[in-house]
Order: sequence, then C-alpha cells, then structure tokens
Amino acid sequence: MHFLFPLLVILLQSPGARAGEIIGGWEAKPHSRPYMAYLKFSIENKDSKCGAFLVQEDFLLTAAHCWGSSISIILGAHNIKEPEKTQQKIRVLRAIPHPQYNNQTFNNDIMLLQLEKKAKLNRAVNLLALPRMKDRLRPGKRCTVAGWGCDIAKKFPNTLQEVELKVRKDNECKDKYHKYYNRTTQMCAGDPKERKASFKGDSGGPLVCDRVAQGIVSYGRNDGSNPRVYTRIFSFLSWIKKTMNAHEY
Ligand SMILES: *[C@@H]1O[C@H](CO)[C@@H](O)[C@H](O)[C@H]1NC(C)=O
Ligand SMILES: *[C@@H]1O[C@H](CO)[C@@H](O)[C@H](O)[C@H]1NC(C)=O
Repeated sequence: MHFLFPLLVILLQSPGARAGEIIGGWEAKPHSRPYMAYLKFSIENKDSKCGAFLVQEDFLLTAAHCWGSSISIILGAHNIKEPEKTQQKIRVLRAIPHPQYNNQTFNNDIMLLQLEKKAKLNRAVNLLALPRMKDRLRPGKRCTVAGWGCDIAKKFPNTLQEVELKVRKDNECKDKYHKYYNRTTQMCAGDPKERKASFKGDSGGPLVCDRVAQGIVSYGRNDGSNPRVYTRIFSFLSWIKKTMNAHEY
C-alpha cells in the first residue's frame, strides 16, 4: 500500500499561500460547476477536506475515504475563504459509505451524504446528472475534474480549479496499480505524458464527461503521476438509487 495515496489531505493552515491548482489546471469560471461542494470532516481529530457533488436536492456523492466525524459541506462556493452570498452551508444528516468499501484496497470508494434539509437550487447550486446509458466510456474521451485540492508544490487554492483529463485503457491502470485496480468498480484517467491530474484534496470530486458524472476522484501515486483511479459511478447506480429511496424524509 505504500505507493497508493488516497486523495484526501489534512487541512493545512497556510495563510498567504499562493493560489495553487489541481495539477496543471486553471481557475474555474465562478459557479460554472454549480454541483460542486466543499467538504470538511475530521478524522482522528485532524481536519481534512474533500470535494463532493450534488445529485439530488438532499443528496451528495463523494468518496468513501472522505468519511469522518463532523462532516460539513458548503454548496455554491467559488472562493471558500470568502463569505460569498451564493454559499449554502447545510448540515449533513447522515453519511452512508458503500457497505463493501475496503479501506485497504479502496475498492467501492463511494459514499452518499444526506443533507439535513434540501438545498435551494439556483444558478450557483444545481444537480449533476448520473450516467444512464450502459456504454463504457471509450479511452480517449475528454472529461474534466474540479476541486480545491493542492498542486504538486502542495499549494492550496482558495478558488475552485479545474483540469481536462482523458479516459485511459483499463490495462494502463492495471499495469500501474496491479491488484488494486478493479475494472468493474473503477476507471482509469489521465495521460501519463501530461502533467495534468487531480491531487490531494480533490478526492470525492466528480470526473465529468459530457455533463454527466462518470467517476469520483479516488486514488493515485503520491508523486501526482498519471493515470489515476476514479470510482466508476455506473457500477453503483442501483446502490445509489436504492439508498436514496430508503432515506426519503
Ligand atoms: C479499515 O477498516 C477496518 C475494518 O472495517 C477497520 O477496523 C479499520 O479501523 C479501518 N481503518 C481505517 C484507517 O479507517
Ligand atoms: C471487483 O469489485 C467487485 C465489487 O466489489 C468484486 O465483486 C470483485 O470481486 C472485484 N474483482 C477483483 C478482481 O477483485
């Protein structure tokens, strides 16, 4: 396990840190990804952060490795250090990690968060669609990922950053991560020749292809190299629907 790195981080207090980025990305147009949520939680008394995304007015998806105590989320944010009027801070009523989540291999790295009350949908807060068609994404497909995670120099941005990534062949992740990579539950993305990637703190954010959430930032090597592994949302659709229906208010 020494070479794997779950993409969450301990929150670093870094006043005056320069705006960093995902790796090789750029600042997103404010509120152009209204489904994005900033997630804070605490594990072993340390504050950590992740991304999450709104899939129903009262439910978000994120990675199971973002589980902890005192989970809080901010919707409608661009600059998480500013008191923006668009922000909605809503308490998390329950966090439901996938029952087969394995914290050693990161298999089934997916978690639902139910909010205490429904989010108000508007131009800064909106839903992201889940995949519908049965087709597997083809290698070469262009997708994007966004987050408030750090760049390779460990600089944390205040504003949401985004980067474009291409889906890669399963075999590339199989070669890089061996038995950890599971082609049923995971997908592989990020060109090894490009310095563009999701990184620490981006965990739980969506890999978006054609405006649909196809993946969830899960793990990769700690040198930031590509390709990296994303939870394959398609494989969990029935669990997502069943779990959301079971917890209607
Ligand atoms: C991983 O899961 C095992 C079994 O569920 C549990 O005992 C252990 O505390 C977990 N470890 C971490 C770091 O969460
Ligand atoms: C892949 O994940 C699925 C779902 O958890 C599991 O049933 C299957 O055994 C895994 N495959 C391998 C090769 O580990």
